[in-house]
Amino acid sequence: MKVMADIEVRVLGEADWQVYRDLRLAALRESPGAVVAADEEQSRDDEQGWRERMRSIRLLVADRAGEAVGIIGLGVHARDEQAGEILGVWVAPQARRSRVAWDLVRAGAEHSRAQGHRRLYFWVGSDNGSAVAFASAFGFRPTSDRRPARGTDAGDSPGEVAMVLSLSVDPGNPRLP
Ligand SMILES: CC(C)(COP(=O)(O)OP(=O)(O)OC[C@H]1O[C@@H](n2cnc3c(N)ncnc32)[C@H](O)[C@@H]1OP(=O)(O)O)[C@@H](O)C(=O)NCCC(=O)NCCS
Repeated sequence: MKVMADIEVRVLGEADWQVYRDLRLAALRESPGAVVAADEEQSRDDEQGWRERMRSIRLLVADRAGEAVGIIGLGVHARDEQAGEILGVWVAPQARRSRVAWDLVRAGAEHSRAQGHRRLYFWVGSDNGSAVAFASAFGFRPTSDRRPARGTDAGDSPGEVAMVLSLSVDPGNPRLP
């Protein structure tokens, strides 16, 4: 019988820049259509560059059995200051379908709510079945907001849709999943 080890989610600090670098590079390599490199993305050895990038994003990492197996980046929505935004979430292939993303997004949503946000946005590729299925299962709802895809296969892609999760505490939405 396969027994899943517990997943622990922690906030990454600048001192963990190598953990961030290794996960980020793995994600860019493994999911180039879903994980998009920033123009200023630095080389592997640019410690200062990695540290600087970490200052503008809130990063949470999931550890399982002592191994970092997933990461989520969080920011503030550009046009809605009452909303947080998931800038990306990636789980290592060997750890998928074991609720790693679920725990990361739940921790991210709690973090966003603690910042005073009422909503959390998540842009997903309309053709990214795993991400759309995950976001829907978690409780995100599609909006009419669309934008062109930005990944390496952007030319063939139908683009991205913004999905949104309410963070309000009300009788209909008492707590996160
Ligand atoms: C999308 C992604 C983050 C999901 O991570 P995960 O850890 O495998 O997801 P979870 O195990 O937490 O899934 C929770 C639920 O979401 C749904 N789900 C997740 N992946 C799914 C898939 N491939 N197909 C159908 N449903 C899926 C299921 O309901 C699942 O529950 P179940 O396993 O009990 O059926 C992961 O596939 C990934 O890293 N993909 C590459 C990067 C990416 O596309 N990121 C998103 C855009 S930035």
